[in-house]
Amino acid sequence: MSAPIKPATSESIEEAAAILRAGGLVAMPTETVYGLAADASNSDAITRLYEVKGRPRFNPLIAHVTGPRMARTVAEWPELGSKLAGAFWPGPLTLVLPKKPGAAIADIANAGLDSLALRAPAHPAARTLLSVFGSPLVAPSANLSGTISPTTAAHVAESLGEAVDLILDGGTCTIGVESTVIAIDEDKAVLFRPGGLDRAQIEAIAGPLGTPDEAAAPASPGMLKSHYAPNAAMRLNVTEKQPGELLLGFGDIGGDLNLSAEGDLAEAAKRLFSGLRELDARKPDRIAVAPVPEQGLGEAINDRLQRAAAPKD
Ligand code: TXA
Ligand code: MG
Repeated sequence: MSAPIKPATSESIEEAAAILRAGGLVAMPTETVYGLAADASNSDAITRLYEVKGRPRFNPLIAHVTGPRMARTVAEWPELGSKLAGAFWPGPLTLVLPKKPGAAIADIANAGLDSLALRAPAHPAARTLLSVFGSPLVAPSANLSGTISPTTAAHVAESLGEAVDLILDGGTCTIGVESTVIAIDEDKAVLFRPGGLDRAQIEAIAGPLGTPDEAAAPASPGMLKSHYAPNAAMRLNVTEKQPGELLLGFGDIGGDLNLSAEGDLAEAAKRLFSGLRELDARKPDRIAVAPVPEQGLGEAINDRLQRAAAPKD
């Protein structure tokens, strides 16, 4: 039976917190995408979370917090981390920091690494849930691993409805792509995943962003290979579609569904995942996608499109 979908109210949020305390799984809205939340200290709950998503256990999760105060209980904070959190939390920025020894975060949550990814979401329902719950919640995107991320409660119900205990409905996500993931290495910031906070804003504070040293570590395992993929094959940077294709447009290239007629990258990010779902549901041979400029949020949009188009094996 599919989990109930309830509008996020103080009552349903209390119920969600009780489910989480009992080791259950709750889908919660955030401003980026819907997350599948579990108690970050409960390894049984997190084991179930990896299972229902079909997510490899080596891919660590983000711990969600109310803000720096809660985050300080579980991670070490270099100066630059505090500056970035001060500027952008709550919001679509995830910081990877050294995990504190003895932190109340299950080892399985961060795949046994020494580091821990932290984010304070801005969506009011997520904020309220975190403060009622009172400690960190891990929450990967609430979809089957490798498939298109959910930006509405209905998307969550379609893919994980049977496997979760409650879906909190907080409307359509306003940003629509996942958070930007940054690791702090002493006084340097390294970009692990482009996302909802664009590079220029971070660089204004942190200076030029480094790239992960791939030889040294499986830096951000979720960044590899095929991800965010529809069933249909994909072809990118297309100005004219071929027979059997549906075209996801941008700006002047209208297509069968336009991400943003005005060429507005924030609007395009917000509509990206639902647009891919809509075209995929029409079962084309292939989804073609118009070029999206590689600036501002375009960096995150193009990252998702390239992974969506990557060979699945
Ligand atoms: O916007 C978001 O970040 C959403 C919402 C729900 O908050 N969450 C999300 O979670 O996108 P997920 O699990 O789909 O992606 C987490 C990303 C993955 O690429 C993972 O590899 C990386 O963060 N990550 C997590 N912990 C890490 C760590 N300790 N070191 C390096 N990368 C890490
Ligand atoms: Mg994901």
